[in-house]
Amino acid sequence: MLVHIKEIIKDAEKRKYAVGAFNIHNLESILGVASAANKAKSPAIIQVSESTIKYMGLKPVTHIVSTVAKNIATHIPIALHLDHGKSFDSVFECINAGFTSVHIDASSLPLDENIALTKHVLEVARPRGVWVQGEVGAMVGGHGLQGGTLDIPIAKFEDVVKFVKETDVDTIAAAIGTAHGIYKNETVNIPLLKRIKSETEKPFVLHGSSGVSDNKIKEAIKNGVNIINVGTDIKVAFSEALIDNCCKNKKERDPRNLLRPTIKAVEKTVLKKMNLFGSYDKVKVLDIET
Ligand code: 13P
Ligand code: ZN
Repeated sequence: MLVHIKEIIKDAEKRKYAVGAFNIHNLESILGVASAANKAKSPAIIQVSESTIKYMGLKPVTHIVSTVAKNIATHIPIALHLDHGKSFDSVFECINAGFTSVHIDASSLPLDENIALTKHVLEVARPRGVWVQGEVGAMVGGHGLQGGTLDIPIAKFEDVVKFVKETDVDTIAAAIGTAHGIYKNETVNIPLLKRIKSETEKPFVLHGSSGVSDNKIKEAIKNGVNIINVGTDIKVAFSEALIDNCCKNKKERDPRNLLRPTIKAVEKTVLKKMNLFGSYDKVKVLDIET
């Protein structure tokens, strides 16, 4: 079922687990996430980037996610979120399309401009009940299979606190040692996370989880991470399954037969993450019946 993101986060905060925010790119990855959520009885956030919106179209992706949530993950809470919205216009379009959560990522601007743009988004989002995620300290990296090391800048504690105080965003993301993509030197700066969490008391969003060790992810959840973004690992699972199937079945000409294994591959990756994040089995039959 499609729910407001706040329903999902309230429970995650109360029961101290994290919810995966899974980047989807097409129908197959949406089906893979929904099917994993069903099997794991786990809440999930399905998130789209601006480039996925460009690829699928805003209306099609919004309708496909809500139809899949309503008809396939019938009893499982699923929320739709915009990931890394870079401009007021793109965030505004998603609010109008019915998203219950949007990320305004002005983290590459000077702090005061980041604050001003985030406040501007909040002015339109809050009266409509839409949650806004803000970001301090730009995330670096890319969504490929890099595998090397990267210079990963860390957000300043004072900047994050000032940003949260002035904007009063609903959820906060900050650069704390992870990067988009898979790099050998990714980590989570736990002391910084702890300080941010105790000073802001906001749900914290960890970006760039692909490439971060399971132990670090567990430690991050213990110390206050509530939402974990998963992008590259889903892309890799999808692409490897597709390439493998195409290579094995070079004469196949039915796209459904070529694409079918990608749904299972995404499902498998997402199930592993739900287990790691502790969101597995969090939707009880009792919750479903009420
Ligand atoms: P990864 O690609 O490293 O999983 O990061 C995803 C992300 O942060 C999307 O916003
Ligand atoms: Zn991100």
